[in-house]
Amino acid sequence: MNIQEVIALVKRTKELVENQELAEHIKVKGPADYVTQVDIRVQNFLKEELSRLAPQIQFLGEEAGLQEITGDSFWILDPIDGTTNLIHGYLHSTVSLGLYRQGEIVMGIVYDPFREEVFWAEKGKGCYLNNRSVRVANSRSLSETIIGVGTTPYQRELAGKNFQIFRRVFDCCQDIRRTGSAAMELAYTACGRQGGYFEACLQPWDYAAGLLLVQEAGGMVTDFLGEPTDPRKAGSVLATNGLLHQELLDLLNA
Ligand code: IPD
Ligand code: CA
Ligand code: CA
Repeated sequence: MNIQEVIALVKRTKELVENQELAEHIKVKGPADYVTQVDIRVQNFLKEELSRLAPQIQFLGEEAGLQEITGDSFWILDPIDGTTNLIHGYLHSTVSLGLYRQGEIVMGIVYDPFREEVFWAEKGKGCYLNNRSVRVANSRSLSETIIGVGTTPYQRELAGKNFQIFRRVFDCCQDIRRTGSAAMELAYTACGRQGGYFEACLQPWDYAAGLLLVQEAGGMVTDFLGEPTDPRKAGSVLATNGLLHQELLDLLNA
């Protein structure tokens, strides 16, 4: 299996993601947390096609219910990252697919069908946007850049602390951004559209692929304490071009 075959599969989800009628079939999962027929169909399609392409690799997908992972090699899929955007026709949703192997993410793909942008990386081989190699921004301080923030919308109890942090960061940078897709935020950090991005709690499928994109583009990813993240587990995520990491860590923990 090579990454171009996997990218080709992921790109075949375009029609499903752009199907507004399917996006209107909505179920509530939790407070402000929804799933649509698009999420389900994209996941079913990729689960089946990936198992055909690489039968030995297990599968962890957001919409599959509880799954026990026993092997040391598995896909981590967010079929739609940015479901709330999808429901509102906001056109900022991505398909995010990572491959975990023996302790690390070795392949990451984030696909934005609305802009025909595929961000992809393999361990040790750099980061690409479509056919072009990309790098993180070269900003040396927050005053030279914009920063993406995540609001942890399904954990409203974190809002007080989150918004205090946003204010501190806003006061130091050119502006803050919020796309509504964690995977897109990580991809935009990887290709230098923003200096960094952080969110107080993400699930493995939100950040597994984006984590590798940022690292392969020359950036840095840790939790809010500066420790390495474990992409099998939920937790806080801070991704930057590396140069801004300490400045942001200080603001997160002020
Ligand atoms: C959510 C999005 C959102 C982020 C949330 C995620 P979903 O994923 O990435 O931007 O703030 O933390 O859960 O529910 O749209 O797949
Ligand atoms: Ca997600
Ligand atoms: Ca999702």
